[in-house]
Amino acid sequence: MCGIVGVTGNKDAVSILIGGLKRLEYRGYDSAGIYVNDQNGHDYLVKRPGRISELEAAITPDVHGSAGIGHTRWATHGVPNEANAHPQYSKDDRFYVVHNGVIENYQQLKDQYLENYPFKSQTDTEVLVALVDKFVVEYKMDTKSALLKMLRLISPDSSYAMVLMDRKQPDTLFVAKNKSPLLIGVCDGYNMVGSDALSMLKQTNRFMELEDHELVIVKPDNISIEDFDGNIKHRDTFTVDMDADAVGKGGYPFYMLKEINEQPAVMRKLVQHYFNGDQPQVDEKLLADLKNADHIYIVGAGTSYHAGLVGARLFEKMAKIPTTAHISSEFAYEHPLLSKKPFFIFLTQSGETADSREVLVHVNEQHWPSLTITNVDKSTLSREATYTMLLDAGPEIAVASTKGYTAQIAVEAILAKALGEYLNYDEAKNFDLKNQLGSIANGMQSIIDSKDDFQALASHYLSQPRNAFYIGRGIDWSVSLEAALKLKEISYVQAEGFASGELKHGTIALIEKGTPVIAIITQDRTAGLTRSNLEETQARGSNALTIVARHLAKEDDTVVIPDCDPLLTPLLSVIPAQLLAYYTSLGKGLDVDKPRNLAKSVTVQ
Ligand code: F6R
Repeated sequence: MCGIVGVTGNKDAVSILIGGLKRLEYRGYDSAGIYVNDQNGHDYLVKRPGRISELEAAITPDVHGSAGIGHTRWATHGVPNEANAHPQYSKDDRFYVVHNGVIENYQQLKDQYLENYPFKSQTDTEVLVALVDKFVVEYKMDTKSALLKMLRLISPDSSYAMVLMDRKQPDTLFVAKNKSPLLIGVCDGYNMVGSDALSMLKQTNRFMELEDHELVIVKPDNISIEDFDGNIKHRDTFTVDMDADAVGKGGYPFYMLKEINEQPAVMRKLVQHYFNGDQPQVDEKLLADLKNADHIYIVGAGTSYHAGLVGARLFEKMAKIPTTAHISSEFAYEHPLLSKKPFFIFLTQSGETADSREVLVHVNEQHWPSLTITNVDKSTLSREATYTMLLDAGPEIAVASTKGYTAQIAVEAILAKALGEYLNYDEAKNFDLKNQLGSIANGMQSIIDSKDDFQALASHYLSQPRNAFYIGRGIDWSVSLEAALKLKEISYVQAEGFASGELKHGTIALIEKGTPVIAIITQDRTAGLTRSNLEETQARGSNALTIVARHLAKEDDTVVIPDCDPLLTPLLSVIPAQLLAYYTSLGKGLDVDKPRNLAKSVTVQ
């Protein structure tokens, strides 16, 4: 995680860095800092624990420059304080570095090269800048050679995106990456570097991709890329399809509420994008590769994994190809025996999740075909997979994913239908997905319109207890996992999503007087069973709540949601859970968008 931005040229570096960092704050918000140099012998370092706003408040009017680097941190080594904030700098204040990633062998490098070095922080990053300093001062190397030597010493399992500045070459950004994301922004009269396109989009829509193990020298009027052996690389620029102004809160108190509200519009946009008449439009080559597969492996983390659980059902029902969903951090190191002709689908809102990328690197080494379904055009997983399908959800800023989840399920449904039709299955041909998505958009809107009810429910049932359960069976269980994740990550209520039939095999021991148990009931076959399981918890004192599809509703159900096709109910049943989580967090006075210990884009493994 962590966000990095850098700029060099003829502009006010402070405002560009702060603007970029604000857009990167989703990547971590423990502490932040900038280093700027005016290229006339004045330079400034400002660092603060806390949010970008606290850094901004600490920047006095004299702090100015036309080149600089900035960082917003999600701590990996060392607590979030000023000393551990980046930029980290060398003992003589000559070299400054910002870094995103983890240097796995930093202790070994410290022991081997830097025994008496006066370290100021507990970070792995300070080792990087100390090594460059040592190689320049003691080994009399120039900065570039010292940096290359340092980069070669970093163990291959480490991850880094880094930008180094040397106050003796104040117009130059020295840039390198391995595994962690980093892009170059090509501007007019100046150039930039940033962890993602959004951080630079106010300045430019021309970007250059960096590959692992490249060294890039960025100057105001020149960008040179070479590998570690000095071979010059030529790189084309690309643009991204993203609206720099779509990232405001638009009058909402929190991004999460805005993003919950955007879900009906996202459903409609996906219909517009992916349908021609009633037919889904999907790349024929992708369909041919999928047709050839004997097993689809869906890989994702957190909410994206939960969307994958729903997607697996869609592919099996409509395209009749065995499909399983996997947690990427598990799959990367311990995967099941794979089929002979696997196809991989990566679900990732950000397109940058390190755990998922680790799997993709392996998939590419084996030359297996892959698709990334992502919200971020030209993100790392999008660039590195064989195919990409976009979520069209607009930037998702709140750490808790909402529209990312529903858009992922909708795109999976579109692909599953297209594939099933391509394979000539009636289940797919008779599935009126376009109309379903239209009425689901209306159904989402009707739930969102009654959001005050959820505020009251959250305050009554969820503001006090330490723990809570979401339960369900089958597809409702998949949603209960996502519902529980939403609640715990932003309200800090210990919440568990549970297969309702499994409760009595142990976990029911946790139910005590007043424990909220929320049952999701949308499927004809399992509705009665889940209700019985809910009653079993009530008999032990639980506070029972229900989220029920209209045709299954009874008089005393808590939340009744509109009906839709049984395969698509997660698109509606998750909305009450999102709203309950939101209002529980709000009621507790927490920062809904930036819950503690988290970051939006998880670029460490
Ligand atoms: C939870 C949440 C996370 C992400 C996970 C994967 O609300 O947002 O669980 O889903 O970190 O992120 P992406 O989808 O960007 O790969």
